Amino acid sequence: MDIAGKAVLLTGGSAGIGRELARQMKAKGAQVAVTGRNRDRLAEMRDEGFEAIEADLSNAHGVDALVADLGDRNIDILVNNAGQGVDHDFRQAQPDADATDACIYANLDAPIRLITALLPRMEDRPEAALVNVTSGLAIAPRAGSPVYCATKAGLRSYTMALRAQLAGSNVHVIEALPPVVETQMTADRNMKKMPASECARHILATIEGNRPQANVGMVKLLNLVHSISPALARRIMMGF
Ligand SMILES: NC(=O)c1ccc[n+]([C@@H]2O[C@H](COP(=O)([O-])OP(=O)(O)OC[C@H]3O[C@@H](n4cnc5c(N)ncnc54)[C@H](OP(=O)(O)O)[C@@H]3O)[C@@H](O)[C@H]2O)c1
Repeated sequence: MDIAGKAVLLTGGSAGIGRELARQMKAKGAQVAVTGRNRDRLAEMRDEGFEAIEADLSNAHGVDALVADLGDRNIDILVNNAGQGVDHDFRQAQPDADATDACIYANLDAPIRLITALLPRMEDRPEAALVNVTSGLAIAPRAGSPVYCATKAGLRSYTMALRAQLAGSNVHVIEALPPVVETQMTADRNMKKMPASECARHILATIEGNRPQANVGMVKLLNLVHSISPALARRIMMGF
């Protein structure tokens, strides 16, 4: 797919992987609208020449407000990138039920609700792409973030089923699975991390190449191990 001239809606495009992907898509001539919640970061994106829309995607009202903001504009590429982590350990404390719900909504419900609202207009475009950002943790979970992993596995499963439904149509359905990437989400994790710009480059190359899946960095190896022995992949990742 040629990115130039494409109208892109990129959720969570005000920070991290999304911001880098927005910059790289814009550099290739796409018209990119990003969303986020933090007003200062949205203002910075506007200073860079992006359309930046404030949208809280942790509830249905926020998603519907975003769809209303979009009006009836064309969308060629929808990137469901916004996501939030929530770690909890029942052995240490009772999880915060509201934080859990917000994570489930933002990571799983919101992409599905956005796709439901926007797919009809994407099907009218000559060529379109729907990109769902999941995670290596969608392949095999780690013990420390059961809810986050469940949302990403859920979105992975949804993406696969949707791809089967839209096979042969003008809408390419793509899943992007980042490894551990250097962003605010992983600020407290003391380990080797991929730069966000590098992760974004892999995702963009997958979109341009009309490939179904971006297994980024170590996720390529995880996917291979999982294809040989799901049990081994789960054992490795559980303590990760
Ligand atoms: N970083 C990693 O290691 C890693 C690994 C695998 C997968 N991923 C996935 O990659 C995607 C991007 O992650 P990232 O590391 O780049 O995260 P990030 O730096 O924390 O950025 C997240 C972006 O999403 C927005 N966002 C988060 N929660 C939101 C909500 N409830 N409503 C609206 N916007 C929301 C944020 O905007 P505000 O800050 O303004 O709310 C920000 O623009 C996520 O889906 C994440 O799960 C990340």
